[in-house]
Amino acid sequence: MKVDVLLGLQWGDEGKGKVVDVLTPRYDVIARFQGGPNAGHTLEFEGQKYVLRSIPSGIFQGDKVNIIGNGVVLDPALFKAEAEALEASGHNLKERLHISKKAHLILPTHRILDAAYEAAKGDAKVGTTGKGIGPTYTDKVSRNGLRVGDILHNFEEKYAQTKARHEEILKSLNYQYDLTELEKEWLAAVEFLKQFTLVDSEHEINNLLVNDKKVLCEGAQGTMLDIDFGSYPFVTSSNTICAGACTGLGVAPNKIGDVYGIFKAYCTRVGAGPFPTELFDETGDKICTLGHEFGSVTGRKRRCGWIDLVALRYAIMLNGATKLIMMKSDVLDTFDTIKACVAYKVNGEEIDYFPYDITEGIEPVYVELDGWKTDMTSMRSENEFPEEFNAYLSFLEEQLGTPITIVSIGPDRAQTIER
Ligand code: GDP
Ligand code: IMO
Ligand code: MG
Repeated sequence: MKVDVLLGLQWGDEGKGKVVDVLTPRYDVIARFQGGPNAGHTLEFEGQKYVLRSIPSGIFQGDKVNIIGNGVVLDPALFKAEAEALEASGHNLKERLHISKKAHLILPTHRILDAAYEAAKGDAKVGTTGKGIGPTYTDKVSRNGLRVGDILHNFEEKYAQTKARHEEILKSLNYQYDLTELEKEWLAAVEFLKQFTLVDSEHEINNLLVNDKKVLCEGAQGTMLDIDFGSYPFVTSSNTICAGACTGLGVAPNKIGDVYGIFKAYCTRVGAGPFPTELFDETGDKICTLGHEFGSVTGRKRRCGWIDLVALRYAIMLNGATKLIMMKSDVLDTFDTIKACVAYKVNGEEIDYFPYDITEGIEPVYVELDGWKTDMTSMRSENEFPEEFNAYLSFLEEQLGTPITIVSIGPDRAQTIER
């Protein structure tokens, strides 16, 4: 058996959490492979809304096992708050949430370092989520990190050494901070973490595959935030692309099955960095208002724009996406016309590929399509789709060379149509 991977093709917040929840009944296990509590994955069903940060989005469906893989960075304090909230609402996690011993720990001083580095960058700041993601992955790569498995042996000593190193850096940056409360809460959460099943997730996942079990890997962030291929340096600190599932779970490349690429019918971005199709007019405001485009972790307003097919083609190539999922088309239900960027104009020359630098001088070339002007939110089958909507789907499939197999027409689990 192979694993399937579900990941974002844009700048994050495509709706990954919702679709993982919808697909979970078809799988035995759901596994997160990268990122950390910078993610905010929203699920809505039976009138309830949940936002998950570190816990995979398969946690609400029956008794499915969910795994936090080695590629994830975990903040015990945020994890404890998330897990306790779920347990309080009647979801028992302890038995079915497995955490890799090789996942790296986000320390309170990583969070402070994140803020200090951002402050030092001034106007050039990335606009991070402030969760300590960059400093934690930095420590991992520079071989200074602490891992979940470390909490089981001599943890106090290892923690004290790492903290002292971080405090030296903070001193050199002349950054003022107060660690006392954060640290107290964090150390209590490390004890809480010990109650969970800590595993070598690479063995667990490969054994599942040998036993013909079905695994769905859940990505966080999006392809355009990938550390290698995103709009560097305005990116996150992990590989968000499909290859991240191999390194973040210990799955060999020849064990990757279907790759579900998710995108919104338009485009959003939160934080700083280039965004070629960004709209600064009422249309952008209308998308933001109708799409409730405010960050699920930070509450920040998301920047909105038209769909960018140049960036999407690039993302499909990098991920080897086999199936596409289009989200939030309902947000465009009232629009007379809809635009799609099919190429970029750079120095007067039209290009259809994603260039090295998208910081400046990129002018989107748009194709305009008729809107469907129909409230689609209660539709339950593709037979009900308006003609203009089908034309939009066909246009996208032709441009992207990949079939759109699921369409999401509202935030609820039930507002999902397969084709
Ligand atoms: P994720 O990070 O990719 O899981 O996405 P987020 O949860 O951060 O953001 C997606 C937002 O859109 C959430 O508020 C979802 O409840 C909402 N959402 C998901 N699918 C749809 C949809 O088809 N239509 C509308 N209107 N909202 C949706
Ligand atoms: P989900 O999984 C959208 C963005 C931040 C910032 C940049 C770096 O919900 O789609 P970081 O804290 O990772 O160092 O921030 O990446 N970012 C996201 N944007 N959705 C996310 O996750 C994001 N996670 C990080 O806004 O621009
Ligand atoms: Mg999100």
